[in-house]
Amino acid sequence: MADASPPVPPPPPVGAPLPAPPAAPAGAPRRPLWKRPLVVFPLVIVASAVSTAGVLMLLSNIYTRKWESRETVFRVVDLPPGTVDPAEWGKNYPRQYDSYKRTVDVIRTRHGGNEAPPLKRGEPVGPEASKLEIDPRLRVIYSGYPFSVDYREARGHAYMLSDQDVTRRTTEFKQPGACLHCHAAITPAYHQKGREAGIPDDRPREQLMKGFEVVCKMPLAEARGLVAHPVSCIDCHDPQSMQLRVTRPAFLVGIGELAKGEAPVPHLPSVERWRLEGRRGTYDPNADATRQEMRSLVCGQCHVEYYFQKDTKLVTYPWHNGLRADDIERYYEATAFTDWTHKDAGTPMLKAQHPEFEMWSQGIHARSGVSCADCHMPYVREGAVKVSDHHVRSPMLNVNRACQTCHRYPEEEIKARVEVIQGRTRELLDRAEDACVDVIRAIADAKARGATDEQLAEARKLHRAAQWRADFVQSENSRGFHASQEAARVLGQSIDLARQGQLKAATIKTGK
Ligand code: HEC
Ligand code: HEC
Ligand code: HEC
Ligand code: HEC
Ligand code: HEC
Repeated sequence: MADASPPVPPPPPVGAPLPAPPAAPAGAPRRPLWKRPLVVFPLVIVASAVSTAGVLMLLSNIYTRKWESRETVFRVVDLPPGTVDPAEWGKNYPRQYDSYKRTVDVIRTRHGGNEAPPLKRGEPVGPEASKLEIDPRLRVIYSGYPFSVDYREARGHAYMLSDQDVTRRTTEFKQPGACLHCHAAITPAYHQKGREAGIPDDRPREQLMKGFEVVCKMPLAEARGLVAHPVSCIDCHDPQSMQLRVTRPAFLVGIGELAKGEAPVPHLPSVERWRLEGRRGTYDPNADATRQEMRSLVCGQCHVEYYFQKDTKLVTYPWHNGLRADDIERYYEATAFTDWTHKDAGTPMLKAQHPEFEMWSQGIHARSGVSCADCHMPYVREGAVKVSDHHVRSPMLNVNRACQTCHRYPEEEIKARVEVIQGRTRELLDRAEDACVDVIRAIADAKARGATDEQLAEARKLHRAAQWRADFVQSENSRGFHASQEAARVLGQSIDLARQGQLKAATIKTGK
């Protein structure tokens, strides 16, 4: 590639002795240097030579860059619609594929990053990897639920399928095929199953939804045979145009429900527009969303709160009333949904799951139009080409590109700001978890003293609401960063509700 800075000839010596000017008549003022022809002409010639050279260099540089960037979309292989294997896509887009493969990294940050040496089936869980070892309160909090047996820190995309294979939550408990919805490049399998159920290829959406229904209900072990790869190119890109797209059935349904509702979503302008324009048909992100919105929606396909519907096991995103913890809770109350019954307290519980999309939605970055990809997949310049870093990871390992493009502070300062937010969130979360453990103990204690279910109902209601909120922040993977004030608001509620519940349980009058 041409060097970006053309060699510049040395400037005419300033202050060097000049040929003696013709003697001026005594008393006449000397002409200023820049008006003397002997000085001006060589300067003009040098300047025009330099600028001509500059223009030529620039042109050749632009040409090289154009050529290079054209090369990135040069197709080596034609990608048929159902191509799952990222290596196939990698033949056309080697840069993205290279960085995509780097999600195998295992580098920690203070509150995040990747960890966990690979687990083998049957081996005990390593302490660094286990949330339960790091924070033993969680065993009490999830008592009676598979999460009290094995619950680990998340890590890179490369591991999503194999980590699901080895977790004791699947080896020791029966799980449905629904689990694969966010852990594999699964949409071709949905289409296949939809086709087998009689929906032809010219009705693709219906075919996808039918296959989704079929696979969700299958036993996990059986459905596992339908997939081979973790999240892949096909999940976020159209193979022909390479445009971003969303493919996950539960997301398509969920975002449609969110749009239909009334909750304000100023960070999703295309939803607001669809509402203003008379709410025609169903909101379809692939047709309606802006490119900048798509840079978050592709992640919102999986990094969200979800539940499985009772009999159908359909993966469902509970966004009908909005995206905040309280909005989602209202949906669960209205549908009388319960994940499990707490073993010690007997409370019908909710388990929150990685609500990154929901929490980001409440933060200042979403409000300012900053997408998940801006921080987690920032551009990298490779030669002349700007490439999105497909090494999706903690931005704390990439502050330079992830944050410093917008925030002109030194790296250490930016990291410190994040860690202050995360440290404060952790402190509040500690209080909330302590309070949850206390309300659990108080209810269990009242039960032991002979309190009836009727007497315990009020305390249990408070326990359920308190723990839902603590869990919402605990299971959100930015440790408060994505929306620090929202995290604090939710934890404040949690602490209050748990203490009220504790008081209620402790003051129940029984014979004992
Ligand atoms: C303004 C930048 C920014 C935006 C926008 C953003 N994040 Fe983050 N995210 C962060 C930071 C900072 C962390 C904390 C990383 C750490 O502690 O190592 C984080 C953590 C995470 C984690 C846990 C990562 C880990 O290594 O522990 C996940 C998962 C995540 N974000 C997903 C998302 C998703 C999904 C979106 C969009 C819905 C999003 N983020 C939007 C900056 C951002
Ligand atoms: C809505 C999408 C979605 C569904 C459905 C889903 N997961 Fe996940 N799963 C994720 C995301 C996102 C992460 C990473 C964030 C985290 O760990 O909090 C994750 C992380 C995990 C992990 C690693 C961390 C841990 O929790 O130990 C395991 C194991 C796992 N899931 C198992 C399952 C099982 C079993 C099911 C079915 C019961 C399931 N997943 C269903 C999205 C999903
Ligand atoms: C989780 C979603 C996701 C996955 C999986 C994914 N990408 Fe991307 N990709 C993105 C996003 C987001 C962008 C930025 C697009 C934009 O801004 O318009 C992008 C951009 C691209 C571009 C456009 C040029 C660039 O770098 O910005 C290419 C080419 C590309 N990806 C190839 C791939 C390939 C090949 C794979 C599989 C190995 C892949 N992607 C997997 C989300 C994804
Ligand atoms: C198909 C579902 C899916 C999509 C789409 C997806 N993720 Fe993930 N992501 C996961 C799962 C599952 C894990 C956990 C893997 C594990 O722990 O084995 C994960 C892990 C991560 C991690 C590492 C978390 C940690 O704590 O170390 C980050 C960061 C992340 N995802 C960000 C994103 C961003 C940003 C996007 C959009 C560009 C995105 N993800 C799209 C399912 C998905
Ligand atoms: C695309 C631009 C952009 C990127 C990238 C970006 N930010 Fe921001 N950030 C903003 C904007 C806009 C605000 C809102 C304040 C403002 O308008 O100046 C903000 C606000 C913040 C705040 C103040 C938050 C608060 O609650 O008041 C922090 C801290 C922050 N950013 C950290 C980060 C970190 C860390 C990263 C990288 C992981 C990052 N930002 C990436 C644009 C960006």
